[in-house]
Amino acid sequence: MKHFINLEDIPAKDLRKIITDAKKRKIKRKNLSNLQIDKSAPLKGKLLIQMFEKSSLRTRLSFYLAIKQLGGSALTLRPDELHLSKGGESIQDTAKILSNFGNVFMLRTDDDKKLEEFRKFLSIPIINGLSPSSHPTQILSDIFTVEEIKKKPISRLNISWIGDSNNVLNSLIAASIKFSFKLNIGCPKSYQPKKKFLVYLKNNTNKISIYSDPYKAVKRSDVIFSDKVISLNDKVNKKNKLNHFKRFKITERLMSYAKKDCIFLHCLPRGKEVDEKVFLSKKSKVWQQAANRVHVQKSILLYCFGKLR
Ligand code: CP
Ligand code: NVA
Repeated sequence: MKHFINLEDIPAKDLRKIITDAKKRKIKRKNLSNLQIDKSAPLKGKLLIQMFEKSSLRTRLSFYLAIKQLGGSALTLRPDELHLSKGGESIQDTAKILSNFGNVFMLRTDDDKKLEEFRKFLSIPIINGLSPSSHPTQILSDIFTVEEIKKKPISRLNISWIGDSNNVLNSLIAASIKFSFKLNIGCPKSYQPKKKFLVYLKNNTNKISIYSDPYKAVKRSDVIFSDKVISLNDKVNKKNKLNHFKRFKITERLMSYAKKDCIFLHCLPRGKEVDEKVFLSKKSKVWQQAANRVHVQKSILLYCFGKLR
């Protein structure tokens, strides 16, 4: 049994294995509809329990389909309906019950400490479906999408991030080290990644650079990533923050500074950080990116069960 909490903690060879498995599985499902089960039904009889403390559309649906296609089933819990939040039941007792009834637990949380606390008391794997500090399932799936479109290992590509230093960027930074790709970050000076992530950067100076000029950050880029300036439950002065990011909008002009065949990716939902023209252009691969989450999450589930081929 293995947990999937942060990319930093997972060996690079296991992350690569997940992507390779997802590629094979995606090809095999070409003519199957969403709820048809993969031939070997490797997770038959297994129950995924998922809980969202924050809103979700894509993660919720893709995990549901992922476990279904592997032959298992899913149950989604609302935290406000559990004793955990209202009646004060402990994480320890909740985890014991989850472990008795379910086989894997996926949590989207507003507090990183809860992931650790659950991990301590669960006897089933836990998957981080987004926390304030990371979004590992998203980024692993995005690596898959980049390689699928570019038909090259990501280590041979230049990746840019234009936007806030948030959970998705933290996972992208971790991925750039695990998969060894060049990452240029473009963000206002006062919104650079937090110190603990910069320490991480210092040891990898040749691969990761930070720019306060978005045009420099996208130069020679193969892929430009962005995300909302205001994240879920971001407790900031929104007007103020949005003002700081005005120069960092993804426009056609900004895209033209990157390579000709540069693509645009965004985990969604979007805000105003990307121009409609770019978002709806051929360079934008956001729908393919969202759809791929099912395939990669299936392989993440198999990894957690120790069943990767
Ligand atoms: N990208 C992503 O995680 O989307 P949801 O918040 O809709 O799950
Ligand atoms: N950074 C965003 C990602 C949403 C999927 C957030 O945390 O709200």
